[in-house]
Amino acid sequence: MLAKTIIAATLALAATVSAQTPNHIYFTYPISKAGDSSQIMEAGKNITFSWSTPCNAGEWISPNPTAVSVQLVNANNAEAVGFVSEVTKIDCTGNSGNNYWVPPAEYANDGNVYSLRMQIGAHDVYSGNFKIGSKNAPVKPSGSAPGTSTPSNTPAAGNAGNILTPVLSGAAAIAAGALMFL
Ligand SMILES: *[C@@H]1O[C@H](CO)[C@@H](O)[C@H](O)[C@H]1NC(C)=O
Repeated sequence: MLAKTIIAATLALAATVSAQTPNHIYFTYPISKAGDSSQIMEAGKNITFSWSTPCNAGEWISPNPTAVSVQLVNANNAEAVGFVSEVTKIDCTGNSGNNYWVPPAEYANDGNVYSLRMQIGAHDVYSGNFKIGSKNAPVKPSGSAPGTSTPSNTPAAGNAGNILTPVLSGAAAIAAGALMFL
């Protein structure tokens, strides 16, 4: 009886885990909890970012799965994420993968919240949030925020990261949720 109960509980847990894992590509690093932008990526350091689930199978299919653009985006405002620069192009046809990126020193200590993004067909896939930091670079005063080209609803640069609590929805939230179970 006890053994049966344990097996049933284990199966129920397994079902929960598989239900939480997205059937489409998602970042496995960097990740963050929704609304948490306390993670710091060191400028000039060689960072390994990673993902799981092929981008040419499952729910979300890339039209060019061997050359998917990975982009640095400004995520101060989750409703108006802004393109900053292309990090690299990846082949995401494998079950999982990783690639390298060196966070640019020009964005170090600027107070902005960043994320990595890949666009899989019509779907945007976000990594967790982070800020770019450097022990060597001075903390920048309010200045221009890269990627924020919509002044009407974009708060002043520099302050933006402190005022808003960005919560990436959709893919990022699902990815963050799924990773709690890995
Ligand atoms: C980052 O490290 C990887 C693995 O050692 C290496 O292949 C890659 O060339 C490095 N990239 C840079 C920009 O240093």
